[in-house]
Amino acid sequence: MTAKLIKGTEIREEILGEIEEEVKKIKAEHGKVPGLVTILIGENPASMSYVTLKIKTATRLGFKEIQDSQPVDISEEDLLALIDKYNNDDSINGILVQLPLPKHIDDKKILNAIDPDKDVDGFHPINVGRLMIGGDEVKFPPCTPAGIQEMIIRAGVETSGAETVVVGRSNIVGKPIANMMLQKGPGANSTVTVVHTRTKDMDVHCKRADILIVAAGVPGLVKPEWIKPGACVIDVGVNRVGEKISEKTGKKIAILRGDVDFDAAKEIAGSITPVPGGVGPMTITMLMVNTLKSLKFQMGIA
Ligand code: GUN
Repeated sequence: MTAKLIKGTEIREEILGEIEEEVKKIKAEHGKVPGLVTILIGENPASMSYVTLKIKTATRLGFKEIQDSQPVDISEEDLLALIDKYNNDDSINGILVQLPLPKHIDDKKILNAIDPDKDVDGFHPINVGRLMIGGDEVKFPPCTPAGIQEMIIRAGVETSGAETVVVGRSNIVGKPIANMMLQKGPGANSTVTVVHTRTKDMDVHCKRADILIVAAGVPGLVKPEWIKPGACVIDVGVNRVGEKISEKTGKKIAILRGDVDFDAAKEIAGSITPVPGGVGPMTITMLMVNTLKSLKFQMGIA
C-alpha cells in the first residue's frame, strides 16, 4: 500500500486563502485588520528565520504586523514593560514572544504577563486551562496541535471512536494534542493514549493506533512494524540530521528527518504527513487563524 500524503503545504494555502478573504471583508465593512506583534530577543538564527516567516505570512494576509527586535541583554523588567505596552494597544490582537529566551529571563514570567486575550500562541496558563475544559471555553488552541487537528479533519480521517496514540508529552505538542483529541467535537472524540520515555513496550501501544501522532524529537523512532495497516500517521518531528546545498538557492540548508521512518511507513499507513512539508507549515498558519480570531473576539463577531 502507498499511503495518501497529507500535505501541510497544500492545506496551508487553503487556509491562508480563507483568512485573506475574511480579512478583506472585515476591513471593507469595519475598517479593521488583525494586528500581530512578534517580539524577538537576540539573534538566534532559527528564531530569526521563524519570525521572518511569521512576518511574511502576516503581511501577505493584510495584517498589521510589528516586528519588535530587542537586544539579547534586555532586562526582564524592560521586556515586561514592552509586553505591557502591547497589552494596552487596541490595534494589537496577538502578542508573540519568540522562544527560547536568553537564560537570564524567566520565560514563565514573560508568558504569564501576556494578556490571555492576546495570547495567540495559547501558552498562558489561562488558555491551557480553557483548552482542558474544551468546547466554547477554548479561545486560542496552541498552534502546532491546532494544525495537527486541522490536517486530520481536512484529510477526512475519522476520529470519533478512533484509538489515537500520542508519542511524547511536551507542553507544546504532546499534552495539548492528547487533550484536544479526547474532547467532544469535530476532529476529536477519540480514545487517547499518551506514551513517553518511561513507557514500557511503546511499540505495543503504537500498533493499536488508528491515528498515531508522533512528537518525540527522535529521528526515525517509529519503525514501520509499529504501524497498524491503514493508520493515519502524523509526524511532528523536525530533526536536523545534516546539511546540504539547496538546488533552488545554492545556499546551505538543513537536512530534515521526522520521528517516523517515512519511506517504510508510507507502505503500511493509510495516510501520512511528510517531513518537511507536513505539520511544519501548519504552525504559522494556525498562528494567523488565532490572530484573526482574536480580532473577531475583540469586535464581538467571533
Ligand atoms: N519557538 C519555536 N516554536 C515556537 C512557537 O510556536 N511559539 C513561540 N512563541 N516560540 C516558538
